[in-house]
Amino acid sequence: MRSARFMSIVGPRPARHSWLGLALGRADVRSLNMDRILIRGGNRLNGRIPISGAKNSALTLLPCALLTDEPLTLRNLPRLADVDSFGHLLNQLGCSTMIEGARPEDFGRVMTLRAGKVTATMAPYDIVRKMRASILVLGPLLARAGEATVSLPGGCAIGNRPIDLHLKALEAFGAEIETTAGYVTARAKNGRLPGGTIVFPVVSVGATENALMAAVRAKGTCILENAAREPEIVDLCRLLVAMGAHIEGIGTEKLVVEGVERLHGATYAVMPDRIEAGSYACAVGLAGGKVDLDGACADDMHATLAALREAGVEVTERQGGITVASDGKLNPLTLSTAPFPGFATDMQAQFMAMLLRANGASVLTETIFENRYMHVPELARMGADIQVKGRTAVVRGVQRLVGAPVMATDLRASMSLIIAGLVAEGETQVARVYHLDRGYERLEEKFAAVGADVERVSDG
Ligand code: UD1
Repeated sequence: MRSARFMSIVGPRPARHSWLGLALGRADVRSLNMDRILIRGGNRLNGRIPISGAKNSALTLLPCALLTDEPLTLRNLPRLADVDSFGHLLNQLGCSTMIEGARPEDFGRVMTLRAGKVTATMAPYDIVRKMRASILVLGPLLARAGEATVSLPGGCAIGNRPIDLHLKALEAFGAEIETTAGYVTARAKNGRLPGGTIVFPVVSVGATENALMAAVRAKGTCILENAAREPEIVDLCRLLVAMGAHIEGIGTEKLVVEGVERLHGATYAVMPDRIEAGSYACAVGLAGGKVDLDGACADDMHATLAALREAGVEVTERQGGITVASDGKLNPLTLSTAPFPGFATDMQAQFMAMLLRANGASVLTETIFENRYMHVPELARMGADIQVKGRTAVVRGVQRLVGAPVMATDLRASMSLIIAGLVAEGETQVARVYHLDRGYERLEEKFAAVGADVERVSDG
């Protein structure tokens, strides 16, 4: 480790440095004000974009620190507001977090986490409502401390998003579940879960993650059937195995976990962000140009790459990344979101933006969330022709889009507005960019590096 670059230790002990602010992600600081992103459309994109560590993976690897009293070092962690917030939650539970690589010019960071002793077993409402992923401390806290309480997350912009399947899985493994006053408590009699089998009625990424983290330290065997197979689940399994867990069936819909009494520390690199890579690919598809997505992993992105190719984007898989090239003339598509290996719900909004000027009508169907078209009225303000009926959106290609002030509503929706802005005439202003800071590391810098006229302005 490059010890010269350790920035701070945050944890149950007071921070050693007065310059703690440096250890906070820039995104975290920025999210306190009302930044906007300005895009002046018309530029083609050419060059290279480094792909960051995956947000969705990072947020499930971080709570694994609770499973052991030894240090866990995560490399390639993206600099995102959500990663910082998760670190703060872990601090409250007794886990220290030490950050390396906090120079402003660095992409990614290394964080060493250590939960020598778990000092609290609750994730409060105030944190869970701001960051849904906080519910992922439920499984590991239960496994480590024999008890965990998390706030029910409540509603979310993109849909109902209940956690009943998380609880059913823990119950199937022998936990006692109690829900009162907006909080749910899970307990393991005698400290460790006896084990059992959960057959998930629908594929749930979050429930599979929580169940896995609870299962690895059970007394007996835990079986997860119809488990999620997303690459982020595989990443989680690989880390758990590196920590000493026994898991069979990694990458399949049946996971068999032989519980172990204790796990040890590990050093592990977060996988590249397939959604970030896919988002920039859609941007190139619409704006035209040729961009190397350095670090992107084609094996995690088959459905996305197939859809890009069908639309007419040239996709080259190469050692160490993917290259996408487009002349901006695109075919319409028919797409339906589905669990992995299907077309990801997290790519729906960006593909919709890419197809706004396609040569014909595209049909997009959202099967995972019931309210994931909040970008549609915003795109319509820019001249898009989209009709939504139930879970299906028909996007008719138009000749021109015109820049307008628009509002980001959630993370991926925000990216769709920026992509549309890349080809809109005049200036597009995207407000509420704190959504973007939750999930895209250095977005405006990455766009600017390939020639886009994208700028962040601060009113704060
Ligand atoms: C989902 C996506 C994931 C994406 C993330 C953020 C899928 C399968 N999951 O993961 O790819 O990165 O959103 O956008 O594509 N459900 C229940 N009860 C539960 C849990 C889930 O009914 O306890 C339902 C949900 O309402 C949803 C479906 O199951 O319809 C899948 O949800 P789930 O995978 O758990 O959501 P996330 O983990 O947030």
